[in-house]
Amino acid sequence: MSTKVEFRESCDGIEPSALKGFFVGWPNPPSPETHLRVLKGSSHVVLAVDSTSGRVVGFINALCDGVLMAYIPLLEVLPDFQGNGIGSELTRRLLRQLDGLYAVDLLCDTPVKPFYERLGFRSEHGMSLRDFDNQCGRPE
Ligand SMILES: CC(C)(COP(=O)(O)OP(=O)(O)OC[C@H]1O[C@@H](n2cnc3c(N)ncnc32)[C@H](O)[C@@H]1OP(=O)(O)O)[C@@H](O)C(=O)NCCC(=O)NCCS
Repeated sequence: MSTKVEFRESCDGIEPSALKGFFVGWPNPPSPETHLRVLKGSSHVVLAVDSTSGRVVGFINALCDGVLMAYIPLLEVLPDFQGNGIGSELTRRLLRQLDGLYAVDLLCDTPVKPFYERLGFRSEHGMSLRDFDNQCGRPE
């Protein structure tokens, strides 16, 4: 990867056009416009931005009650940028923002568990509800 990536802890100034290519493999993915709504509706975000193009190449977000607990719904690095430490740095920066809480939870597929374990997470049991008709996001 020859491009320079900068990390931002806000989505100020980000346009939907900078958010293309995410949700790889999702059958009914959110549009870039909806993705931006997700980021703006999150209590915490960290973005990895290609300094040359202004394109977002990775992001992580959290929903936090500000007292005890936070949930990390999404972390993704665009395929061409994976394997360069961006996902780890996004997570480390988000965890710094969440410092002092009792719990930070997330769900992930089994192959990604070692990635999170290296960042200090440990495996727990989880439960979930999914409505794939709404995978692209609830309308405004
Ligand atoms: C998971 C993800 C965010 C990691 O981002 P990244 O920028 O590639 O991560 P890093 O470069 O910081 O990787 C750190 C280490 O984790 C490993 N790793 C990264 N992604 C992995 C995966 N999907 N499965 C297993 N190991 C993984 C890397 O091999 C690397 O190890 P190494 O340094 O020994 O080579 C990225 O692969 C991604 O966007 N995947 C698709 C979406 C996804 O699975 N998100 C997580 C949802 S919970």
